[in-house]
Amino acid sequence: MFSADIYQKRRAGLVHGELRGLLLFLGNVDAPMNYRDNTYPFVQDASFRYFFGLDEPGLAGLIDVASGNATLFGTDPGVDDIVWTGELPSLAERAARIGVSASRPYAELSEVIQEALRTGTPVHYLAPYRSETVLELAGLFGTTAMSAKAAFSPALTRRVVALREIKGAEEIAEMESALAVTRQMHIAAMKASRPGAMEYEVVGLMEGIMRCHDWQLAYPSIFSRRGEVLHNHAHDQRLDAGDLVVNDTGASSKSGYASDITRTIPVGGRFSERQKPLYQAVLDMQLEAIKALRAGVRYLDVHKLAARVMVERMTALGFFKGDANEIVESGAYAIAFPHGLGHQIGLDVHDMEALGETLVGYDETAERSPLFGLGYLRLGKALKAGMVLTVEPGIYFIPALIDAWQKEGRHAGFINFEVFQSYRDFGGIRIEDNVLVTETGSRVLGEPIPKTIEEVEAIMAG
Ligand code: GLY
Ligand code: MN
Ligand code: MN
Repeated sequence: MFSADIYQKRRAGLVHGELRGLLLFLGNVDAPMNYRDNTYPFVQDASFRYFFGLDEPGLAGLIDVASGNATLFGTDPGVDDIVWTGELPSLAERAARIGVSASRPYAELSEVIQEALRTGTPVHYLAPYRSETVLELAGLFGTTAMSAKAAFSPALTRRVVALREIKGAEEIAEMESALAVTRQMHIAAMKASRPGAMEYEVVGLMEGIMRCHDWQLAYPSIFSRRGEVLHNHAHDQRLDAGDLVVNDTGASSKSGYASDITRTIPVGGRFSERQKPLYQAVLDMQLEAIKALRAGVRYLDVHKLAARVMVERMTALGFFKGDANEIVESGAYAIAFPHGLGHQIGLDVHDMEALGETLVGYDETAERSPLFGLGYLRLGKALKAGMVLTVEPGIYFIPALIDAWQKEGRHAGFINFEVFQSYRDFGGIRIEDNVLVTETGSRVLGEPIPKTIEEVEAIMAG
């Protein structure tokens, strides 16, 4: 948690725009795993945390735009709670920590909302993504769940995105502290990925490092020799010499900032001659993309640049035929790179996506593509200095996709299907870093994590 003045400044950024009325931020509540008192690890709503800092369930923040005053709604712990949880700060104490002078019992929130509705005062809130929040909004506004979900405020969303997408120095420092632990996790995984090891043993080792800091994962770990399965959450396979393992794992910092790193590991410690040119192609895609980043550049164009680098490398290896630009524009390249180049990252690993992927990642500078592959690009718009995003190209051999396209002859003029077929047991490669955009370029955050062929092999040999 940051000092109170950071949250005061962030909230001031909301009242100095075009918004009128009340701004409502509902924090998350505990989510039961299998019965009410056995809950998933608590994850706070990122927008609530951004403006109101507190990382506890059952809170709401309300801002009156006209006066600029903020109120924290919550419940003071009673002795019955303290018996189970130990001493807890009062609601007023929690409000003071974030520079909010007014606090009220949560039960009074509905009266405030009802009064606003009676007087025609607009109440803005962000799109809810949890059913508990949908139901809470429906109760507060006296409407149906469907209506409550639909009535979120695009104007508040735009304002929140404008503030959250430009990271302050304190946020960059948090992300780099998360990356320091994530770096240890990735290096430990490289060293432990020996033939015969089970995937879950390596995952346990990595996640143990994160738990030793009392931190949480930013997202469920992906660690798999079946790296062509883009978000493969199974960890039940034995590693064999010659496998490539995609390790997409990241911890969240103490204040909840995410890291999101992928490395691809050659089990046995050396990349094979068959793996090397494709690994190098992914690395070149990433390095060229990072080099192209700066304020004003559209991420859509950086994605296409990475795709073009891949197509050029893979054409030289016999996978594609024809003009590289045409192969990119047609979408044929997506047979090997079927996801987006990256996304913003911050308090959420896919930062602000809960507010609406297209609303956050696209604007008048870029339209979302309907093409398979490019359509999964979550961030297309022109970049601004202060944004932090992931750059995560990959090459994958997905047998079901190769078979389907071959059967229907899709992009047959550009794709040598026989060559793709001969790699159907290859797996996948992804390399991902977290990068700060600046006016003149970019900076890869955190201390470097081995990623060249030489660096990865040296760590594994050591
Ligand atoms: N770790 C999920 C992603 O890279 O988007
Ligand atoms: Mn990732
Ligand atoms: Mn990512």
